Amino acid sequence: MRIGILGSGLMGGKLGTLFAHAGHDVVFSYARTKTKLERLARAAGGSARAGTPSEAVDGADVVLLAVHWSRLDDVLTQAGDLSGKLVLSCSLPMNADDTALALGGKTSGAEELARRLPDASVVSAFSTVPSEVLAAVYAARRKSTRPSLVYCGDDTRAKKVAAALIQDVGFDPLDTGPLRMARYTEPFSLLIGQLAYQASNNPALAYRFERFDERG
Ligand SMILES: NC(=O)c1ccc[n+]([C@@H]2O[C@H](COP(=O)([O-])OP(=O)(O)OC[C@H]3O[C@@H](n4cnc5c(N)ncnc54)[C@H](OP(=O)(O)O)[C@@H]3O)[C@@H](O)[C@H]2O)c1
Repeated sequence: MRIGILGSGLMGGKLGTLFAHAGHDVVFSYARTKTKLERLARAAGGSARAGTPSEAVDGADVVLLAVHWSRLDDVLTQAGDLSGKLVLSCSLPMNADDTALALGGKTSGAEELARRLPDASVVSAFSTVPSEVLAAVYAARRKSTRPSLVYCGDDTRAKKVAAALIQDVGFDPLDTGPLRMARYTEPFSLLIGQLAYQASNNPALAYRFERFDERG
């Protein structure tokens, strides 16, 4: 597939590189310098290249949105028309300094994006709590139990792949059931994100939420 990356930081850089390694045609865009985009494209190899947001979107089958929520207006304006595209978003709706949710409790980032991009198909993915918040917890738990990572879906084959990938990156895959469960995972990750950023003892707080499992 042709995959346009909007936001080539930690998430966009890493995911774009993985997509390029998997044989997809990737265009990295939206960083503070063109040099960085070119460096990423060179390192990713294959046909990966650097471009502007509108070049990344032009002809793309899938667009990965990986900017901070506060950059959304800017990147969407630069990207242009997203009609008919599959927009994969990992942007968490946090305010500019990550101290609070940018949206109220009655909607999600994916729903807000779907409202703003009515002619695109919006999928919320990779919208986990930023890894740096939980890194210490994960490091500590890796010594004993692996941290859980929830996933859901309706396609049995895809779920097997997801579970294997989750296991590969050091988590315990926790199947939460059919795709309709996805509507609960974003607010859940936002809740953890907000609590973790606001509390002084972040890791302990995050640890408690990690312990949710099928038994409730
Ligand atoms: N990090 C995680 O583990 C994680 C996990 C799940 C979800 N998320 C969410 O994913 C989204 C992206 O996170 P991230 O960690 O990838 O962020 P990031 O590393 O800061 O990447 C954001 C990208 O936007 C670019 N950018 C920022 N301001 C810009 C400007 N004024 N002009 C042009 N480009 C600009 C950055 O450029 P530079 O590269 O030049 O800095 C960078 O490429 C966020 O909503 C975050 O909450 C992150």
